[in-house]
Amino acid sequence: MTNKIKNIGIITSGGDAPGMNACIRAITRTAIYNGLNVFGFKKGFNGLIENKFTPLHSKDVSNIIQRGGTILKTARSEQFLTYEGRKKAYDNLVKNNIDALVAIGGDGTFTGASVFIKEFNIPIIGIPGTIDNDLFGTDNTIGYDTALNTVVEAVDKLRDTASSHGRLFVIEVMGKDAGFIALRGGIATGAEAILIPETKTYIDHLLEKLHKNNNKKKASSIILVAEGDDFGGAYKVAEAVKNKYPFYDIRVTVLGHIQRGGSPSARDRVLASQLGAGAIDFLVKGEKDVMVGLIDKRLALTPFSQAAKHNKEFNQELLDLAEILAV
Ligand code: F6P
Repeated sequence: MTNKIKNIGIITSGGDAPGMNACIRAITRTAIYNGLNVFGFKKGFNGLIENKFTPLHSKDVSNIIQRGGTILKTARSEQFLTYEGRKKAYDNLVKNNIDALVAIGGDGTFTGASVFIKEFNIPIIGIPGTIDNDLFGTDNTIGYDTALNTVVEAVDKLRDTASSHGRLFVIEVMGKDAGFIALRGGIATGAEAILIPETKTYIDHLLEKLHKNNNKKKASSIILVAEGDDFGGAYKVAEAVKNKYPFYDIRVTVLGHIQRGGSPSARDRVLASQLGAGAIDFLVKGEKDVMVGLIDKRLALTPFSQAAKHNKEFNQELLDLAEILAV
């Protein structure tokens, strides 16, 4: 351990994700174990700019491993996008003798952190916390597994009512740039079609497939659409189907922010604990400007610049499988 780091700050930033609290707990307790003092800054980067923080002791993170959301609150900070905002943040860190930061968040968080490091040379380690799973350098992000299970539970319920009425449901899930939730959610619920931002949606192909399914007298159909799909979302898809096949009884459900809440799954709690502890270990060894992830069960570091969302490949084989299984 270097002697340099004595006081660390934690922020949660961007969209919240189930498991962030478990991660705050792990960071805090591993830091204390290593003789460090811990401070939780409120509402992401805004807390640094506005100097809003609270010391975190072991007992302050008791009884939070199972809670959704983030006790530190979160935000997408507009002020941190400006140099003036970042300078204020730096001045406050110096004033409070904070030597390093751990930032739990997604792409926007890491982009901001990276600029901050370059300008002010503050050590920052990132931890992937987003339901979207769209970060390169980790098999899963914290919150993804819980969100996926929330989607599966909701779609199963919708399937019950869809098949009772013989209806077509178009269901929209989160993922404005990535279809990880839609793809695995669709496979797990036996969706008849999955539309994701990573591939172009050919609506005629979809309509033809539905027509064939209808000829086979499927009791119900589910189309799972990621919010960022290029065709424009669930309502647009439903409209296109209705225009071509007016006889379909169609309902649209947008699952929305329910996907971001709830008690984290066991997988997310364990992942959050491993990554939180790993972040402190790497930080005291002098690492910075990197995200700590878990690849094939091992901790791995990825520079912030590479962790960016569009680098993570989606699994074409899974999409092909969904097509086969929907015959
Ligand atoms: O980044 C996670 C995410 O849930 C996206 O899937 C979604 O597009 C976005 O956040 C919505 O964020 P908000 O409503 O907080 O602006």
